[in-house]
Amino acid sequence: MMNIQPSSENQFGLPTNPVAMIWKRCCRWLALIAPLGLAASGWAGGEFRPGEVWLDTAGKPIQAHSAGILLVGKTYYWYGEDKTLGDFNKTGVSCYSSTDLYHWKHEGVVLPKQAVPPAFRDNGICERPKVIFNARTRKYVMWMHLDDSKYHVASAGIALGDQPTGPFVFQAALRPITDDFGYKENDPNRQKQLGGTYRDMNLFLDDDGKAYAIYSSEGNATMYVVRLNADFTGPETPTVPGKTWARVFIGKSREAPAPFKHQGRYYLITSACTGWAPNAASYAVAGNILGPWETKGNPCVGAEAEKTFRSQSTFVLPVAGKPGCFIFMADRWFKDKLEDSRYIWLPLILKPDGSFTLEWREKWDLSVFEMK
Ligand code: DGJ
Repeated sequence: MMNIQPSSENQFGLPTNPVAMIWKRCCRWLALIAPLGLAASGWAGGEFRPGEVWLDTAGKPIQAHSAGILLVGKTYYWYGEDKTLGDFNKTGVSCYSSTDLYHWKHEGVVLPKQAVPPAFRDNGICERPKVIFNARTRKYVMWMHLDDSKYHVASAGIALGDQPTGPFVFQAALRPITDDFGYKENDPNRQKQLGGTYRDMNLFLDDDGKAYAIYSSEGNATMYVVRLNADFTGPETPTVPGKTWARVFIGKSREAPAPFKHQGRYYLITSACTGWAPNAASYAVAGNILGPWETKGNPCVGAEAEKTFRSQSTFVLPVAGKPGCFIFMADRWFKDKLEDSRYIWLPLILKPDGSFTLEWREKWDLSVFEMK
């Protein structure tokens, strides 16, 4: 039984000793105001520790690499490659949900490997899944990069779900743009016959309801920005260069596109093409998503800036209610043990001139956006 010291309190539980009285009052005030302070700071009981193992609410490491995030109401859904069994598509696309961005509940494998054609399962590739919502069809639309183990099939995959947690039903594998840019007959990617390759990708849903696929094409030499049809299930047709789609960063070999928008200007963070090895990021800005894009250079500063802090871009998440504030999301790949690859999330805050830098942080929380 707890030892109670009755001597300093009267029969109403109030201290009779003046020092004890003041102390008790302070404690009561602290108990009252502390939660308000925490809520205002945005801490809300969590923090991000980039590069450490991140556990889900069941205590298991989060398996959602090449992340993409969709906000539905007040719930965030994180989609990504489930690499529990290592490289290639041995499991499928997993989904986690959260209302605070710190605590993530595993919603399951929402596009299991069996859902995609056999060529893209097991030792096939299903990478960089992203989901957007089509307000007209009321469908959750997932696009991904599908490939064979040699990365020569290089196609987009499209799947539809009625709920953010799926299940997603596979629709098609395709190359959105089939124009011939002088491809060789013996091109292992068969671009002359099938069109431009589709590899590292992202989706961008614009304020006007139009959506775009942004992806590395032409054997990764050139990036494409392609407007989608009204259902978001393929490119807008007829495809017209410069009108419905565009070649950007021509011959610059960029991948890992992570787009975002602020005050009518489009931003696109990309990486160079060095397989699983990290390299320097670069960002570009445009007034029109189809270009022209003005390259600004590497936003990372400080130690390991030339290697994007040993990571590769995957997504930029707008911070709800904080214009100009975003979370930069990237993957720190461990190429010999891909299932152990880590998540690097860092604050991205635009300066008044529209530029930004990315700095390493061992740990941080959403209160960094509080003063913005
Ligand atoms: C780099 C890409 O960004 C990754 O998604 C993955 O395709 C690796 N290359 C494979 O080497």
